[in-house]
Amino acid sequence: MNKEKEVLIFKDIEEISGFVVKKWLEISGRAVSKKGRFSVALSGGRTPLPLYKRLVESKGLFRWDKTDIFLVDERFVPYSDPESNFGMIRENFFRHINIPAENLHPVPIEEDAELSAARYGKDLASSFDLTAGAVPQFDLILLGIGHDGHTASLFPGTQALNEKAHLAAAVILPDISKKNRVTITLPVINNSDNIFFMAAGADKAETVKEIIENRDSLLPAAMVKPEKGRLFFLMDEGAGSLLSKF
Ligand code: 6PG
Repeated sequence: MNKEKEVLIFKDIEEISGFVVKKWLEISGRAVSKKGRFSVALSGGRTPLPLYKRLVESKGLFRWDKTDIFLVDERFVPYSDPESNFGMIRENFFRHINIPAENLHPVPIEEDAELSAARYGKDLASSFDLTAGAVPQFDLILLGIGHDGHTASLFPGTQALNEKAHLAAAVILPDISKKNRVTITLPVINNSDNIFFMAAGADKAETVKEIIENRDSLLPAAMVKPEKGRLFFLMDEGAGSLLSKF
């Protein structure tokens, strides 16, 4: 990593969202001037909802025609299902902005999660115009943190965590009441130019502390260590309440 992680504490999720909108504007502006396009991967979950609403409110500031949006993960359900990340983000964000359909890259829901992951990997490779074995370099990836330390759909103890050869992986959860998932893999996340973790609520404080302060932590979110990019932890006062420095 070329730079230590940056840990920032905000009053609440609204302030975090305001910060991310500002950074998104800067990063996307730079990317569009430099290479003509901006690429971002978004998370599901509840935490980014206020951000998506703010992006809609300030939609006039962004070059949506030059923005390519992927998802960091998806549950293996149709987009119309309330558990679908794409469905949730479409309702709260995409349908309110003027973005060409071909700029949106949902995880395709195929016969099974393995096939979906393989197709998503192909979509990533062709969208980024990659040669065989190369890894996409996103301008920005937004991640959440689960109570068990998962991020994207990289859960503790699952095979997907060790995936080095593929850009996307199927996640078959041992608990059969949980939906299978598809996730982008650690090599893709760690190759991003900017990674923003967003976490809110005191119920995340212990997990956040472990991820930020325990250098030997094996929790999936602690394995996010960008090669060259910048890593930000953006937390509200609750999620950051157990950190030693604050
Ligand atoms: C998902 C996510 C997942 C999420 C965390 C945190 O599909 O649910 O991508 O990794 O970011 O579980 O979720 P909350 O924001 O709801 O706490």
